[in-house]
This record gives sequence, structure tokens and C-alpha cells, in this order.
Amino acid sequence: MTQIQKSLIRQIFEGAPGNSINLALGEPDFLKPDWFIELINSKILNHYAYTPNAGLPEAREAAIEINGYNGFPDDVCLLCGAEEGLFATVAGVKLSVAPGKTQVLAPSPYFLTYPMISRLLGLDYSTYPIPPFCSGSLLESIQDKITASTALVIVNSPANPSGIMVCNDELHAIEELCESRGIFLLVDEVYRYFGNRSCPVSHQWDTIGKFTIAVSSLTKAFGLPGLRLGWAFTKNEVIQQIIIAHQSIAAISPAFSQQLLALFPKNDYKSWLDANREKTISNRENIMLLMDDAGIEYVRPEGAFYSLLKIPDAVMEKMDDVAFAFHLKEQHQILTVPGSAFGEYSKGHLRLSFGGNASTFPEAIQRIRSGIDSVLQKKEQFLKI
Ligand SMILES: Cc1ncc(COP(=O)(O)O)c(C=O)c1O
Repeated sequence: MTQIQKSLIRQIFEGAPGNSINLALGEPDFLKPDWFIELINSKILNHYAYTPNAGLPEAREAAIEINGYNGFPDDVCLLCGAEEGLFATVAGVKLSVAPGKTQVLAPSPYFLTYPMISRLLGLDYSTYPIPPFCSGSLLESIQDKITASTALVIVNSPANPSGIMVCNDELHAIEELCESRGIFLLVDEVYRYFGNRSCPVSHQWDTIGKFTIAVSSLTKAFGLPGLRLGWAFTKNEVIQQIIIAHQSIAAISPAFSQQLLALFPKNDYKSWLDANREKTISNRENIMLLMDDAGIEYVRPEGAFYSLLKIPDAVMEKMDDVAFAFHLKEQHQILTVPGSAFGEYSKGHLRLSFGGNASTFPEAIQRIRSGIDSVLQKKEQFLKI
């Protein structure tokens, strides 16, 4: 199923008309500061040998500083992006838990990697709905779905594809719940710095639960996916199992990227992060205004650079979200991802990704509006006959 969903997303990109506007790609488009460009072009980055498996201590120290983790380099393993971070963490958890603990409980709508990793590792994948797709709170939704075989709960905040955020108090309540049941909690926080104006950083790590593992990367916060540098942070001895898994998957993360990360604290990375956050917040506010003006319904994003646009019921009577995404691509040159790619709760939606250039947004929303109207008009003509 996950394979089908992945190929569906690929099909949206393949053969897209040349003048398409792309709201499908989850990649931010941030400016790079001068100090960063100078470092890349300097001869300082010269480490081509293996590093320790968990990464250079000074780079792990930098990950701690940037994230405000309350810990030490030994609590961190550097990994090849959050993608490997998720894989090595789930593998590390699998190596640590008692036999019979086989369930991974993930949010839905979900990031496609979660089911894929669980299946590759032979674990049982289950989901809990997140607001606004569940009736109660997030905590209750997780509580309802935990079983005796739950090994790991995944929380993603702010979330891909919905942009929904878990606030600090709620996250710590979820940590307590997991701790009381001896269940690991993986917090996928790659979008942590992209909350809304009242809560720009979705949660803080002054304390971290005994069973919690935070996973993040340079990818989204700094717009550096190609450096493939991520990390897992935990106070649990599961870090040793994560390092063992990482040894088998990749041995080390790129030494070049590790050296670069180690130099972030000596440079003004904070202003860079602030600028990226400001751009993301402004893009989000911008696209919400445009959708409101165009009379388009959506799940109100609180963080990240995604929103789930609700396809009007009258359109869904004619075609499902997959057909509508292809209609938008082929007839209106606008690329979006059908919501059903992210699980059952987001069926009938389209994921819009707005990390890119805001100057394209008015035209993008106009094209979506025309796409909706063209299907509705067809329906009216059909009814008149
Ligand atoms: C929720 C989430 N987690 C993890 C990742 C993977 O990030 P990375 O590029 O650091 O591997 C992504 C990428 O889109 C994501 O959306």
C-alpha cells in the first residue's frame, strides 16, 4: 500500500506540464547567509576519513546547542537526515524491547515513511487520528489506541501533511503516558521551528522524558536536504541500539556535513533560523488569506509549510482526490498531492506545500479555484441534460 502511495506521488511529478506551479514538493526554498557560503567554499571542511559512528563530538555538541537539548554528546547520534534518523530509531527500539512488543503507533494523516519503516522492520503499523480528525484530544486519541503490544508511539509536530501542532504541555503529558506504560516515544520534530506567531517553536526540551527520543535534521529548519544530516537525541540507553542500527545502515553520516554543523555555533545560525521561520510563517499566512478569499476550505495549519485543502463534496461526487489532483495537474497546471496518499483520514483533501516562492501563490490558488469551478460546472451541465 505504501509503495502504491509513493508511486502515486511520483506520478504527480512525472510528465508535469512545463508551466506548472508546484505545491507538491515538501522542500523549503531559503536564502543561505554569507558565512555559510564562505564556509562551503573554504578549505576548512577537509574531513574525508571515517568519523566515530555516532558522529564528531563537536558536531553532536552543536546539535545539542541548536535544539536546546538538555544533554551531552553521548545522548546524541548523528544520522543521514531525519529519514535515517527515523529508521535507525525504530530499529534501535526494536532491538531494545521485549519480545511481543511489536506495534508502532503513528499519527494519521501520516508521513509516508512511518508505515514503510515499520513494515521493512517487520513491525505492526497502527495509527491514531490527530485533531481535527479525532473527536477528543490528541492524548485521548493515543490513549485509546495503545495496546499491550505497543513498543513505540510516534508524534510528529508540527505535522506533515496537516500542519497540526502539539503544544509543549500536551507533548509532556504524552511523554508521561508513554513512560507510565514503558512505551518509547519518538518525536519527529523536523518542523519544530515553524510554528505560528503565538508559538513559533512548537515544543521545548528543558526536560526530556525517560522513554523519549527526539529526531530532527538540518533539512527543513535550514533548507539543507542535500547535506543529509540529522540526529536522534535521548537520555535512554536505547541510544546505543540506535548507534548499532546506524552502523549497519550507513556507518557514519557525511563527515563534511558534520564538520559544517560543528561550526554553526561559531556563526550566526540563530538569525538564519529566524529568517527561515519568518518566511515560513509569512508564506502560511499568505496562502491562508488567499484560500479564505477564494472560498476554499482547508485544515488550518498551525505549523510547518503544509495544509490539507478540503475538496468540496460536490467535486468529490464526481471524482475522488486522486482523480482531482490529476485533473488539476493536467487541465490547470498545478501540482498537489492527493490526501489519500497519507492515509484514510485525509481522503478528500489535497496537500498543499508552501515552503517555496510566495509570488506564485495567488496564481496557484486561482488555478485551484478554476479547477474546482470547472468540475462543478461540468456537474451542473450534466444535471441539466
Ligand atoms: C515529517 C518528516 N519527517 C522526516 C522527514 C525526513 O527529513 P530528512 O530530509 O531530514 O531526511 C521529512 C521529510 O519530508 C518529514 O516531512
